Amino acid sequence: MKVVVDGQEKNLLAVWYEDHVVKLVDQRKLPEKIEIFEAKNTDDIAHAIKDMLVRGAPAIGVTAAYGLAMAKLNKEDMDAAVDRISKTRPTAFDLFKAIKFMKENNFDLNSARRYSNEISGRSKRIGEYGNGLIKQGSRILTHCNAGALAVVDWGTALAPIRIASSEGKKPFVFVDETRPRLQGAKLTAWELQQEGIDHAIIADNAAGYFMKKGEVDLVIVGADRIAANGDFANKIGTYEKAVVAKANNIPFYVAAPGSTFDFSISSGDQIPIEERSQEEVLMIGQNRLGPAESKARNPAFDVTPNEYVSAFITEYGIFRPQELSKVRSLMSSDLFMR
Ligand code: MRU
Repeated sequence: MKVVVDGQEKNLLAVWYEDHVVKLVDQRKLPEKIEIFEAKNTDDIAHAIKDMLVRGAPAIGVTAAYGLAMAKLNKEDMDAAVDRISKTRPTAFDLFKAIKFMKENNFDLNSARRYSNEISGRSKRIGEYGNGLIKQGSRILTHCNAGALAVVDWGTALAPIRIASSEGKKPFVFVDETRPRLQGAKLTAWELQQEGIDHAIIADNAAGYFMKKGEVDLVIVGADRIAANGDFANKIGTYEKAVVAKANNIPFYVAAPGSTFDFSISSGDQIPIEERSQEEVLMIGQNRLGPAESKARNPAFDVTPNEYVSAFITEYGIFRPQELSKVRSLMSSDLFMR
């Protein structure tokens, strides 16, 4: 991802391994500053994932892969490291895909590097396929952050928009703010601004207004886990965006690499949904929103049924929910994904 630091353009990854530590952009600090967190052991990796210094399904997977390779080099107890990392966040399938990949490759550092490179290359392919869906001046709505920060580079939902912009198509992006943690307002808007892509942050509850007025041509979101029937989990609020898109005949696309597809579950009912702390909803910064006695509920994800999905944009091409058996067979002959 291109970023401008002190007037100079740089290429920044969300997570990488260097000098015996896992380095990652502390996403809690954006957009105010780019601060790099150095994870030196499994405790640090678990903290980084659970407390969302790093977040987004593919980026969580890459962090776990590097974290396990580092644990092996540190001569840590690998059963304990796997157990600890697998208990950080339950919904994103990429975490479990990366742990399985690293186990099969003996927690080797070069395999972690390969995992990261594969995810990055596949995101670029998602961008190239998805770019075909974007016309000159298309107005696209996205939810949460499915950009380079959520992957390692390129992004999933943002990859097609990046490529469309680089081809001069001048896309315009409606960025849902994405309460409670504001990944849209803080992270997606920051990525778009770094690359000069025109956008507007909107309150989460404004998306229906713009869709009904005919100001949104298509919706592209990422995913945390996709079931065999095409039901998928993504950031809380995705479901209602999908319902309103269908009610207004607006195409709704889900961009994700093979590492997010969980063909072991038949439907979205089987996806574990993380519920995070009440404080995330009750507080904005140091300010409490409601009465001190009020409780809150805070599911981090919801499940959108397959009937609301126009198509999945993957590294293998674009598939309707009824065609996911093709993705399954392409994945079974893909040495990295099977
Ligand atoms: O709680 P988060 O910020 O990890 O949730 C992230 C999302 O829901 C993203 O849309 C999803 O992981 C896709 S990222 C390419």
